[in-house]
Amino acid sequence: MPKKLEGKIALVTGGGTGIGLATAKRFVAEGAKVVITGRRKEVLDVAVKEIGSSATGVQADAGNLADLDKLYAQIKQQHGRIDVLFANAGGGEFATIDQVTEEHFDKTFNSNVKGVFFTVQKALPLIPDGGAIVLNASVVSIKGVPAFSVYSATKAAVRSFARTWTNELKDRQIRVNVVSPGPIDTPAVDGLAQDPEQAKQLKAGLASQVPLGRMGDPDEIAKVVVFLASDDASYVAGVELFVDGGMVQV
Ligand SMILES: NC(=O)c1ccc[n+]([C@@H]2O[C@H](COP(=O)([O-])OP(=O)(O)OC[C@H]3O[C@@H](n4cnc5c(N)ncnc54)[C@H](OP(=O)(O)O)[C@@H]3O)[C@@H](O)[C@H]2O)c1
Repeated sequence: MPKKLEGKIALVTGGGTGIGLATAKRFVAEGAKVVITGRRKEVLDVAVKEIGSSATGVQADAGNLADLDKLYAQIKQQHGRIDVLFANAGGGEFATIDQVTEEHFDKTFNSNVKGVFFTVQKALPLIPDGGAIVLNASVVSIKGVPAFSVYSATKAAVRSFARTWTNELKDRQIRVNVVSPGPIDTPAVDGLAQDPEQAKQLKAGLASQVPLGRMGDPDEIAKVVVFLASDDASYVAGVELFVDGGMVQV
């Protein structure tokens, strides 16, 4: 069977762990060369080793414009273009409305909204006509989960970007789509809990809200990102594709 991303150059932000790492592995399995980013160099080094010689790691904070400039200068020099961009870097923490501080608000918006915006804006000169952009949002873009208001608002913003950019980039035939995962078992979910016992309870609670009765595996998101990034999705533009075991569908 022909590979879906043969010869493509792909960038996965936040590609050192979780959904980003699983997607980078899938991209490579489908024939792409991949650049992954993240803020922790040691995490990137381990991931690059795991993915293999088709991967390069670049330390870059998605919310830092100077880092993005350096990242794209390196990709330009190394590969000359980006055919597929998966803007995945992001995260959040629980805080009820009375607990939210200015720091929490700015940190979350900086990484999830400003980061995604400038990751895409600054990539555009390197994306050839016909390229594909996939943004990682979340089911919380359309759900009201208590203590998650700032994070959820950032993901609603990400979903909104895909609408506008689909129209703005139509003359270049660049497709922009959103993948919105339900609860996926990644280090980010463990990070929401105080200790392993609380993490276990949190995961059980999340699984119980999913019609399929379980959390998703990062690779189950990766497979859908490959679809959206590939020619299989040549007539798919501006969608928010929920990959959530039915969580917000039924
Ligand atoms: N897991 C879920 O249930 C779930 C559900 C819906 C949506 N999502 C979304 O999926 C994406 C990936 O999350 P994940 O669950 O796979 O968690 P994860 O394993 O924590 O992955 C996030 C990755 O992004 C990197 N990162 C975070 N902020 C960054 C920044 N400002 N610049 C560059 N890299 C950054 C992190 O590495 P460094 O810390 O080293 O930078 C980490 O490797 C996030 O956007 C998240 O909101 C996750």
